[in-house]
Amino acid sequence: MCGIVAYIGNKEAYPILIKGLKRLEYRGYDSAGVALLNGQMHVYKKQGKVSALEQYAADKPLAATIGMGHTRWATHGEPCDVNAHPHVSNNGNIAVIHNGIIENYGPIKEELKQRGYHFNSETDTEVLVNLIQEIQQQENLALDEAVRIALAEVIGAYAIVVMDAHNPDQLIAARKGSPLVLGIGEGEFFVGSDASPIIEYTKNVIYLDDEEIAVINRDGTYMVKTLRNVVKSHAIQTLEMNLEAIEKGDFEHYMLKEIYEQPKAIEDSFRGRMNASGGWIKMGGITEYSARIANAERFVITACGTSWHSGLLGEYIIEDLARVPVEVEYASEFRYRNPIVRESDFVIAISQSGETADTLAAIELAKERQALVYGICNVIGSSIARATHAGSYTHAGPEIGVASTKAFSTQVSILILIALQIAQSKGAIPQSKLRQILYELESVPNKIREVLKLDDQIREIAAVYKDAKNFLYLGRGYNYPVAMEGALKLKEISYIHAEGYPAAEMKHGPIALIDEEMPVVFLATNVSAYEKIVSNIQEVKARKGKVIAVVNEGDTQIKAMADHCIEVPQVDEVISPLVTIVPLQLLAYHIAIMRGCNVDQPRNLAKSVTVE
Ligand code: F6R
Repeated sequence: MCGIVAYIGNKEAYPILIKGLKRLEYRGYDSAGVALLNGQMHVYKKQGKVSALEQYAADKPLAATIGMGHTRWATHGEPCDVNAHPHVSNNGNIAVIHNGIIENYGPIKEELKQRGYHFNSETDTEVLVNLIQEIQQQENLALDEAVRIALAEVIGAYAIVVMDAHNPDQLIAARKGSPLVLGIGEGEFFVGSDASPIIEYTKNVIYLDDEEIAVINRDGTYMVKTLRNVVKSHAIQTLEMNLEAIEKGDFEHYMLKEIYEQPKAIEDSFRGRMNASGGWIKMGGITEYSARIANAERFVITACGTSWHSGLLGEYIIEDLARVPVEVEYASEFRYRNPIVRESDFVIAISQSGETADTLAAIELAKERQALVYGICNVIGSSIARATHAGSYTHAGPEIGVASTKAFSTQVSILILIALQIAQSKGAIPQSKLRQILYELESVPNKIREVLKLDDQIREIAAVYKDAKNFLYLGRGYNYPVAMEGALKLKEISYIHAEGYPAAEMKHGPIALIDEEMPVVFLATNVSAYEKIVSNIQEVKARKGKVIAVVNEGDTQIKAMADHCIEVPQVDEVISPLVTIVPLQLLAYHIAIMRGCNVDQPRNLAKSVTVE
């Protein structure tokens, strides 16, 4: 949610900033801006994509070796040039870029107004930059001290970079509740809201902690201190990500690349954690807390969006295999509804980005009530990974398409491993069944590769339904959360209204929607509920609905009834979501492309939702 990049060194800053903003654009894309310091402060901002900013700035003075850039996802104030970042103080000297929300900006703004400040934008950021100016002037302070005192006054979340026209040899960066990475190059520094704008130049980074300020100097020195003015030392970490992982390569879109990366992402999520012939599973965090987990009275899974759908599958998988009661909670509800959470609960928080504000708040609530909290995150070093007692990384690699794909399948993979390890330690699963699932897990990446070969067939189906106004996705058992995820994929990238429902619930309401205009996607792979789903398909056909069915290879009965059948390899039901989700991702992708939608950056969405 909003992207930050900054540079100080001896290279031209502008090309680094623009390239960085393009890499960060997936975090927010309603406006973008840069500030460059070269004798004076130059600020260029534009509503729309980074390319609009680039066009706008093309004939402007751009030479500078210090600067910063921002790509925005609007929170306070509509997307427009004025509300775009950077924001500059009334005296024109200080520029700030900011991710997050300053909650008490209202009273601070009023006070500043009374002291004669004026505001051009509706943003909380413009309030912050003027607060810094006020403190700096009143007390004649160095910029870092003024920033520190200002930040001690504000309530909310932020990652900021600050630049002062009077000090072209220094950048100040600070964070609380929103990530910030400092890249350390040879005589140059980079700042990013994630590593993607930095990776090309240096692999040496430090991740700032909450309430820390970095003072970054052109002479190659830097210092990190806390809001309480305590100097901190951070070990320099080496980024493991490579540039290829954040580039589209031969694919037209990140989303398609990430769909195709799923076999490898799942293999990576399994690596070193299980072995079918040895019959073992070893999830570090689960082993570390095995006694407490074994004694847990129930598990609570909390997450948002697609990660919540993985969580719902987690409930099915864990209850099925490990026989432990599981509740699944939207983090946004859980955190505000005074839930019952006990010390004996095992809470699993799932998040691709590791930064989702509601999930983070749910974790804090669970920790306050003494529960053991386990994170399943993709982004290494993210806030959620750090806030939890233990956890497993999904190792899916960077997910840049805003619609989550490989994050979902690797989250489900991790949940299966967790369930199996707990089931094994409790003796809840026969060793032969466990081995069978492990063998199937080892072969599932190749089965997904088979499904990916159906891409052309799925594109043809997409062409038939691209103009539909509504879609219904139905499934039973393990296929129900998959139906919900398939519907979410379609609605978020194609803007077609879509609902995912348990198939049996159709007759309690959604059946009223069915007519010859209504495409219904059936997930019909589970052997256990096959006859029931056949009846549901008949009910749709009787009302002239159009049926697209995902079935097991060799199916004949549903094939005879459905308008379209997508045949996928049969696997154990516990594992089946890893296979059945893939055609739904491809269907959503192709429909969105045919409707001319921007699949990687759908309207109004952002990759990590760091606001409530
Ligand atoms: C949907 C999607 C969102 C996220 C949700 C949670 O494709 O990407 O629904 O799943 O915002 O994000 P994370 O997993 O980063 O906590």
